[in-house]
Amino acid sequence: MRRRLCAGNWKMNGTAASLAEIETLTRTHPTPQVDLLLCPPATLLAQASALAVGYPLTIGAQDCHQAASGAHTGDISAPMIADTGASAVLLGHSERRENHHETSDLIAEKVTSAWVAGLTAVVCLGETLAQREAAQALEVIADQLDTSLPDGATGANTVIAYEPVWAIGTGHTPTDAQIAEVHDFLRRRLTDRLGGDTADAIRLLYGGSVKPANAAEIFAISNVDGALVGGASLKATEFAAIMEALENAS
Ligand code: 13P
Repeated sequence: MRRRLCAGNWKMNGTAASLAEIETLTRTHPTPQVDLLLCPPATLLAQASALAVGYPLTIGAQDCHQAASGAHTGDISAPMIADTGASAVLLGHSERRENHHETSDLIAEKVTSAWVAGLTAVVCLGETLAQREAAQALEVIADQLDTSLPDGATGANTVIAYEPVWAIGTGHTPTDAQIAEVHDFLRRRLTDRLGGDTADAIRLLYGGSVKPANAAEIFAISNVDGALVGGASLKATEFAAIMEALENAS
């Protein structure tokens, strides 16, 4: 059985003072019943990793370079992320695909680099509103999945996050049926490629305007194994409320 996963992406938010949110989470929820992942900005990875020691919280980065080292000013490599004590990395987030023109081919190189460094890759994908309105959502998602994910994915080294671009930071979420359609499709496609046992072990997260108020409904949807939470992960109380909804999901 897949363990459910509640993940938070702080994006470009947070300074040292924000680490108090992690301390609050560990103090108020000492024994979470689901896996937890928080991805603060790179500047906080080492401190966040130190705070998470002894508590079932994985710390992850939000991107890595595809190379392990080299002349790439301003970039951070997967081995550097592992060196901070973090053990996961988000890859292919739509904000990276859009703002930094990242292609699925590049993301696949980054995933390989993450695996080599021992990091779990959280591979993000999702369609734009224009693509959904043109009835191309599944086609786009299939291409992103096939191309962004190199051979060798397992339940231990990979998590997939479906994040429709139009749902991120907008307060709009797809219907339950739309989420179910995509998540069932992702599971089938992973099964075709990897076989049932491996595909069944890979967690599928939904992301895009997940809040305490809608979390329970989203977690009841078929093949939704958790959430990748943006804005609502910045406050321990909101993130914990979403985590509790996941704990209580059947
Ligand atoms: P919001 O939860 O703020 O919509 O962000 C979702 C997201 O992009 C997480 O990676």
